[in-house]
Amino acid sequence: MSTVSTGHLLERLSAYAEAAMREGLGIEDPNADVRPATNPRFGDYQINGVLPYAKALKANPRQLAQQVVDALDTHGVCLAPEIAGPGFINLRLDPAWVAREVAERAFDPRLGIAPVADPQKIIVDFSSPNVAKRMHVGHLRSTAIGDAIVRTLKFLGHDVVGDNHVGDWGTQFGIILWGWKHHRDEAALERDAIGELERLYKLGQAMGKDDPAIAEAARLELAKLQAGDPENKALWERFVAISRAEAEDVYRRLEVEFDTWNGESHYNDALPGIVDDLVARGLAVETRGAIGIFFDEPGLPDTPYLIRKSDGAFLYATTDIATIHERVDELGAERIIYVVDVRQSDHFRQLFATCRKIGYDKVTFEHVGFGMMLGADGRPFKTRDGGTVLLESLLDEAEERILPMVQEKWPEASEEDQRAIAAKVGMGAVKYADLAQNLGTDYKFEWDKLLAADGNTGPYLQYTLVRTLSVFREYEARFGAPFDPKDATLALTTDEERDLAFELVRLGDVIERVGASLRPHFLCEYTYNLARRFNAFYANCPILKAEELLASRMTLTRATWQALEVALTCLNIPRVQRM
Ligand code: ARG
Repeated sequence: MSTVSTGHLLERLSAYAEAAMREGLGIEDPNADVRPATNPRFGDYQINGVLPYAKALKANPRQLAQQVVDALDTHGVCLAPEIAGPGFINLRLDPAWVAREVAERAFDPRLGIAPVADPQKIIVDFSSPNVAKRMHVGHLRSTAIGDAIVRTLKFLGHDVVGDNHVGDWGTQFGIILWGWKHHRDEAALERDAIGELERLYKLGQAMGKDDPAIAEAARLELAKLQAGDPENKALWERFVAISRAEAEDVYRRLEVEFDTWNGESHYNDALPGIVDDLVARGLAVETRGAIGIFFDEPGLPDTPYLIRKSDGAFLYATTDIATIHERVDELGAERIIYVVDVRQSDHFRQLFATCRKIGYDKVTFEHVGFGMMLGADGRPFKTRDGGTVLLESLLDEAEERILPMVQEKWPEASEEDQRAIAAKVGMGAVKYADLAQNLGTDYKFEWDKLLAADGNTGPYLQYTLVRTLSVFREYEARFGAPFDPKDATLALTTDEERDLAFELVRLGDVIERVGASLRPHFLCEYTYNLARRFNAFYANCPILKAEELLASRMTLTRATWQALEVALTCLNIPRVQRM
């Protein structure tokens, strides 16, 4: 059993159950199908994998379950297993094991969760706004979800590259170049560069609609840029730099970082070769003057996947194929994850099918498609006058709404400190509201709910963490030194202590589940339950006045703090010292 890594309980129980199935049933490569129990009455975990073998082995499933139970050694993790129903095996964790486990790991920054034995090279493509536009609320989801996925996979020990695939190339630049050359307002540029780029784009677009000569002029500017004209190239670089600076401000506020910023333009030189190669291999064909790929796989749109337009221009799809060549052939990616609006799922289905045709069959491709953020009325989230809500203003509003609460709780702090806390709590609340949703569907953004001090919210979790810190501070004040790791011990004397400790040993399973399913809301749910259990423990079990249970309860508090730290680090919800 030495191959079983610590901190991954489900994986460990699966290994024990599979060993028992090999020994008790003589199955060479069994699937024990161990899962968390659906109902606490049945224990904590259940082995569901015996039943399916009954037919093949021509035996009574309960009898088979008995043979597995006889051969099962859980190395002290579980109490005696029980057979239930037609042949399920229920497992209950041994409270003595749980207590030992928590006590041993309470001071370990990873809480005993070992990195995976076989790290993968993973690319996560997320956030990826189009340049020359301000970031709006639509960018929150990809940024928050993608970042949580990157951090969770890194925590698990994978070699992860978080890439911001910015849209820094395309037809919009012809229009902006034209607008810039004919209508730019230098004073506005000084004041608000990105706003001026946005204005020029809108203006150029509107004027081009009314006057074909202007549309044509914009196309010429684009053609010049694509042909490498030095003036246009220099201007384009300037536009990209302006946008990047603007985006960096937003990312700084969200505390999000990227490993690379390989935008669409990074792949320009590769595009002609990609099209030629796909044509030469017979994978892409001419269709009405353009070049496209056709599929006969079921479930794919029946329109071709276009990689070159009839005027010779390349498309979004062409660039995405180029990114895969680089990510796989040069970076050695084994898994590529795209965190992009669900409305792009046809694009990704066709992209992945193209990759299968090309022969990238050892790489896992996943599109994490998320739904829209809606206003409280269930309609697309808009400003009062119907405009798009900027991400910056959303963060400003969160901060403004939180500030009075901080001022009330912490009146003696300077306004600067109060604002700093309000910024972190507000940002955490907004991000957490997004992460806590099962991401496939649309969700309603409701200020009162997401800022609430209790419930499944960012502030509630941050507050719980602050509460654990206050216990440490009081301990130190009372006993003159911080709680010492060598005093760690744990006795589970009440239901609250037991429930909390049993929750703590599951953290590794949950993180593993997020890494596999790419659904951060599982970790949110877990963290919320953990916080609730801690608060129940805090309300019902004295800690500093616990006398002989003092060290035990401090250990439990310490392990909870550590688990919250790990969970909030993976979700990237900021921690504050006070609230
Ligand atoms: N820039 C695109 C958009 O705003 C998203 C890019 C997603 N990533 C990708 N590799 N296609 O819609």
